[in-house]
Amino acid sequence: MKRSVLIVGSGAREHAIAYALSKSTHSLSISCCGPNLNPGIKTICDRYEGTMALGSVNDAEWVRDIALRLHADLAVIGPEAPLEARVADTLRTAGISVFGPDADLARIETSKSYARECVCAIAPEVIPKFRIAHSIDEAQEALASFGPRFVVKADGLSGGKGVKVSKEHLGSHDEALSWCRQLFSTGQTSIVIEEKLYGQEFSLMTITDGISCIHSTPIQDHKRAFDEDCGPNTGGMGSYSSPDNLLPFLSKTDVEQACSINEQVIQALRNEFGKPYRGVLYGGYMAVSDGIRLIEYNARFGDPEALNFFTLLSSDAYELLQSAADGTLSSYRPISDNQASVCIYAVPNGYPELSERNVPFSIDSEMAGTQIFYGSVERDDSGILRTAGSRTLAVASYADSIDQARVQALSTMETIQGTLRWRTDIGSPVAVRRKIDHMTRLRKRLSVGVLGSTRGTDLRYLIDAKQHGILDVDFSLVCSDKADSGIVDLAREHDIPVCIGREHQLSKSLDEAGVDIILLIGYMRILSAQFCLKWKDRIFNVHPSLLPDFAGMKDADVHALAIERMRASGNNITGCTVHLVTPHVDAGPIIIQKSCTIETHDTEQSLKAKVQLLEKDALIELLQLFRQTGGQDLAWDM
Ligand code: AMP
Ligand code: GLY
Repeated sequence: MKRSVLIVGSGAREHAIAYALSKSTHSLSISCCGPNLNPGIKTICDRYEGTMALGSVNDAEWVRDIALRLHADLAVIGPEAPLEARVADTLRTAGISVFGPDADLARIETSKSYARECVCAIAPEVIPKFRIAHSIDEAQEALASFGPRFVVKADGLSGGKGVKVSKEHLGSHDEALSWCRQLFSTGQTSIVIEEKLYGQEFSLMTITDGISCIHSTPIQDHKRAFDEDCGPNTGGMGSYSSPDNLLPFLSKTDVEQACSINEQVIQALRNEFGKPYRGVLYGGYMAVSDGIRLIEYNARFGDPEALNFFTLLSSDAYELLQSAADGTLSSYRPISDNQASVCIYAVPNGYPELSERNVPFSIDSEMAGTQIFYGSVERDDSGILRTAGSRTLAVASYADSIDQARVQALSTMETIQGTLRWRTDIGSPVAVRRKIDHMTRLRKRLSVGVLGSTRGTDLRYLIDAKQHGILDVDFSLVCSDKADSGIVDLAREHDIPVCIGREHQLSKSLDEAGVDIILLIGYMRILSAQFCLKWKDRIFNVHPSLLPDFAGMKDADVHALAIERMRASGNNITGCTVHLVTPHVDAGPIIIQKSCTIETHDTEQSLKAKVQLLEKDALIELLQLFRQTGGQDLAWDM
């Protein structure tokens, strides 16, 4: 008996769903409803005795009436907006099996703050530090707590354009605040402000009937508009996956953890709402220096990730979607051919800022191992394909290796006639190598070099912190201009290699020791501009005052002056500053400051001891920060 399937949505993701259904061994009638007459989906509907209805997929009654008219056995909901608009709920109430969760369960996507709170209860360690702001004052407070490393996110759905990242899209807290004002004025009632993470993103989609789970291979999307991950965020410019159920920069543990978190969230949603989550849960993760973090959840297939997924799927897509919708997923056996995949989107030139419509284009039909999926495309009366504003079309390809899949996808892209553009680096050996190197750098132990001329008390504290498991670094070399300094004795005591000499010898030895970062701990010489340039952004000094107070002065003088200033003016606050070293003494960008109060009974010595404890904390924080960020974005004005 013929089964009737209705696809809700008419973009490239839904074209991929229609394509996968068209390969089913079951006798199907395939229909679609959506906002545009996608020529790819239309061809499939025509061939599979279905219809294509034009209208708003957020109109639940309209979708239900179509489904009832078609006697749909299964409805597959593509985008998130109809989920929020209760389309799944309405179809279920009408007795139709639905692939896609009810609106309350879909809040895992439609409210970022809800998603954060939900995952926090399961695995708090995978959530970036975040605050939820309901007013500009709260936003200001939240931003202050993250310094120069933050991300601002509209809480509700915003079509992939509600997220701005510091340094990349927002150059200061002021810019961030005006973006927050804009969000509040356009109806957002809350904004998520969170720490900026450093690492490599991956998506892991879990298809579920609320109990059984089938995980996709991890896939890496490319959100930025241009090659080398530059430019604004987009809906996704392309994606790739590896043949081995990993990605080249991920460990098995990363992937297992992501699968486990998705499963736990599905279970938690079932417990909270007393009904199963049926559809797909898309986890957007980032592999970071010490594991993985969850960036977002979607309650639908990713786009472009769905294109990789359905191009690779060898088992029956109808059975997969129907059994997830019906609660019989445990009997479904997915088949994987262990192939790599690459998907590349072609977009109008002005995308994502401009919505360029009516640009004519053509593309040759696909080659072996390659599929074309139409997105925001219309066919005019004379049969010419034209852009409809957003991402135009995608080419998805599979092969034995990522590179081979990419070469295939690109050769199909090159048959495009018309002014569309696309990224050429998705899955390229150079880009993949860069990602592997990035993760390797973030995940290796830091190799620390130290330059000192005095007792090295701060180094003693750091060695102690390492011995107590607070700090996980290697002290690879201690350099000094003085053979008889305390810091040299300290290094020898702890079997840390030592180098005594002049600046150029020290620099050579630091190079040979492969240090990632250099700390100046009581180094009494002024470093040359040449040295500072060679180690640019990797060399840090700790100064015993709140710079710019007492810049350029020596330790003992600083504390005496701080006490004197307190007596003269009542200013009883001092502290320490960790800053980047530049050729201008004590004037490099400030990374960390810690303050303390000067008591009336404090002496130079007691104040020095107090500030040194702050220096220890500041240096530990610096090393942890350097590891997490790979040395990126440490200060505003670098
Ligand atoms: P989202 O819509 O939450 O997936 O965010 C869109 C994109 O913004 C992500 O794919 C990341 O590239 C970036 N992003 C989001 N959150 C963070 C974060 N905490 N740290 C760094 N980048 C982020
Ligand atoms: N690929 C990102 C998304 O579907 O949201």
